[in-house]
Amino acid sequence: MGKPVKKIWLDTDPGFDDWLTMLLLGSNPQIDWLGVSIVTGNAPVDITWDNALRIKAHDGLKVAIYRGCEQPLAGAIETAQRILGDSGMPTTGDALPPRAASDASSDAAGHAVDALIAAVRAHPGEITVIAIAPMTNIATALMKAPDIAGKIVEIILMGGSTDQGNHTAAAEFNIYADPEAADVVFRAGIPLRMFGLNLCRQLLVTNVEVARLRALGTARASMLAGYLEAYVRIRSPDGSVPMPMYDPVVALYLEAPQLFQFLPAHVAIELRGELTRGMTVCEFRVPRRAAVTTQVAHLADGPAAIELLMQRLSAILA
Ligand code: BDR
Ligand code: CA
Repeated sequence: MGKPVKKIWLDTDPGFDDWLTMLLLGSNPQIDWLGVSIVTGNAPVDITWDNALRIKAHDGLKVAIYRGCEQPLAGAIETAQRILGDSGMPTTGDALPPRAASDASSDAAGHAVDALIAAVRAHPGEITVIAIAPMTNIATALMKAPDIAGKIVEIILMGGSTDQGNHTAAAEFNIYADPEAADVVFRAGIPLRMFGLNLCRQLLVTNVEVARLRALGTARASMLAGYLEAYVRIRSPDGSVPMPMYDPVVALYLEAPQLFQFLPAHVAIELRGELTRGMTVCEFRVPRRAAVTTQVAHLADGPAAIELLMQRLSAILA
């Protein structure tokens, strides 16, 4: 007997690293992928939703994709377009083709928040939510339907940090873009598994991985290589400085949990600090000082995780 199949729901804001995550989830036979909710994050939701539908069409993903929340629970929209450009997904090569006129209207009907609530209620105690974006959709679902908190197995998220931020000195982007939503999620009593920047900085990519993708020689591989090249150039213009890999870490964890180690913690979201808004304050002195809410990933076999990513992409794109 193999491992049991896990039912998952993905909340995302594509984004190149979100795309890689979708590729891994869509080709993992141990996963029953029930749906995708799209949110404003790397770019406004109209753009991240369009990116997601282009990815679905291009890669033949068999999953319903729902358009979700446009703006954070409080405060102004914060995107990563300053770094990633208007599309939220830059490339040095050919871009994903636009959607055909025939599927230009919508993918799945209905709002992502309602779709997430319906999925959890239809499968109580069975769904693991994968969160790789600002958590506006998930928090909105929890506020609208508090009963679902007790019906979600676990939320596995890429977000936060035990130390430095990226969008600000103190805060990681997914949390910073909607701290009030993260606060709702981290207080909901749902088991949480957090992969923050401290962990992702152990999974590094450079031009070497770009060259490996290109060497596969297929059209799909060379398109993805252009996006990976633009991604590694976030860190250095020539792609020589290692760039952390963010969102796919959660999909790699599902495939190879033995590559990751966790510490129990109580994680609180800083909402007011002038310099620290969006910081994930991790209290590891548990349960002495606070109750455990979150398993915080702190150690990874980074080279093995990147090797697994490259091998999986090779198989998918060959
Ligand atoms: C996170 O922010 C986004 O830009 C990425 O897609 C990832 O989810 C990293 O801080
Ligand atoms: Ca993301």
